[in-house]
Amino acid sequence: MLKTTKELLSEAQNKGYAVPQFNVYNLETLRSVVEAAEEMNSPVILAVTPGTRRFSGDAYMHALAHTAAKVSSVPIAYHLDHHTSIVDVVPSLKLGAKSIMIDASMETFENNVRIVKEAVETAHGYGASVEGELGKLIGTEEDITVEEGEDALTDPEMAKEFVERTGVDTLAVAIGTAHGLYKSKPNLDFDRLKKIREAVDVPLVLHGASGVSEEDVRKCIAYGVSKVNIATELKIPFAEALRDYFKAHPNEQDPRKYFTPAKEALKEVVLQKIRMCKSEGKAL
Ligand code: 13P
Ligand code: ZN
Repeated sequence: MLKTTKELLSEAQNKGYAVPQFNVYNLETLRSVVEAAEEMNSPVILAVTPGTRRFSGDAYMHALAHTAAKVSSVPIAYHLDHHTSIVDVVPSLKLGAKSIMIDASMETFENNVRIVKEAVETAHGYGASVEGELGKLIGTEEDITVEEGEDALTDPEMAKEFVERTGVDTLAVAIGTAHGLYKSKPNLDFDRLKKIREAVDVPLVLHGASGVSEEDVRKCIAYGVSKVNIATELKIPFAEALRDYFKAHPNEQDPRKYFTPAKEALKEVVLQKIRMCKSEGKAL
């Protein structure tokens, strides 16, 4: 079942769980995520970045996600993650994409408002929902890098103004998470999250969830996060399983053989993350 992110998140927001978003790169990673979601009877969001669209091909990824939604028993949304410009997204909207993120968080507040507002007008014309971001997460997500010291947590009052002026459907917040691996345990600002939740009514999104403890993610969900984004923690076991496989079988050439343990390793993490988000059994 293909659903919009908006539909999945309003259900999650009402019922106090989060829908996990997993970044996928190709058929192998996408199928592992979908298989895990089916096993757990969980809704799931499949996300692609601009880099993935370039690497695997926009139309191919679109077709894979839409096919997954068609043949699968669980609700699936397909989301374009961390795009900086609506112009880059329009080809996908024309293909039928219904969920996008416009990340102009590195811009000034006024520019962020202007860019996201324009994107909302265009995307809504295609029936797609828009995620905006206010505040900046340390780390690298594809084409966007924020250095330590350049990060900024989300201000609750500005979040209210941002949502009102842009008309965004969901809001990514910066409360102390980072993209990629953590050097030390992240220190999340739950009070800030509570204040943002009180100030705005759209579903809130937690980026950089790889490496955040289950306890902290659960707390974020209790304080109002409805979507949890995970990328790095899937890439690592996939790559490690491939490395291990080739160490043990240096002459193997068959992709069906060497991808099998990698798919399994990725799937294990997806199962854990679905439990963490409390979305198990929530596929309606
Ligand atoms: P991580 O790679 O840190 O899990 O971040 C994922 C993310 O925020 C994707 O948008
Ligand atoms: Zn992100």
